[in-house]
Amino acid sequence: MKLRTAVAEDIPLLKAWDENSHVRDASGEDSDYDWDEEIPRIAEWGELLMAEDDGRAIGFMEIIDPALEPTGYWGDVGEGLRAVDIWIGEEKHLGQGFGTQMMRLALERCFADPNVKAVIIDPLERNTRARRFYERLGFKFVEYRTFEKELCAIYRLERADYLSLAEAG
Ligand SMILES: CC(C)(COP(=O)(O)OP(=O)(O)OC[C@H]1O[C@@H](n2cnc3c(N)ncnc32)[C@H](O)[C@@H]1OP(=O)(O)O)[C@@H](O)C(=O)NCCC(=O)NCCS
Repeated sequence: MKLRTAVAEDIPLLKAWDENSHVRDASGEDSDYDWDEEIPRIAEWGELLMAEDDGRAIGFMEIIDPALEPTGYWGDVGEGLRAVDIWIGEEKHLGQGFGTQMMRLALERCFADPNVKAVIIDPLERNTRARRFYERLGFKFVEYRTFEKELCAIYRLERADYLSLAEAG
């Protein structure tokens, strides 16, 4: 499994994945990505990544600095954080460990920056399977927050917890 920057050639696949029900169900209302606009941009504040297993694209990840992201989606969360979004493109690839591998690579990438204190995520409150997935990776529930009319469960993985979990294997 590896993560690489998403490029224009990935746009048709990303659009096709958006139509899949497990991807739609996990997205909040009005939260569609405008891929034609998003993919070509080079931003200081975030990365759009494709996850590839053995050369085939399996999933997508976004890693942002929530304090710098220009829409202010996360509000006043302070510095030293990264926010992550993740999905597997095809339903047949769910539940096979790909998401865990992707998240481990993303966390490694986030915490490689010594200024990063914690990683935050915001699954929909009703997305119980994703919440369990994050909890298994060591994320701790913080609070419920409504983003773009959708109730989300905010989770946070602190650097110290990440390091002790990584050490324990
Ligand atoms: C959440 C997700 C990225 C996890 O990746 P994955 O490769 O399926 O997960 P893994 O195989 O590494 O780990 C298995 C766990 O993933 C979660 N999972 C499995 N299938 C899932 C599905 N259809 N929908 C949501 N989560 C699922 C469960 O917690 C599962 O554990 P369980 O067997 O106890 O239910 C992936 O399931 C997914 O893309 N789901 C839909 C989109 C989504 O919910 N994204 C998160 C938005 S915040």
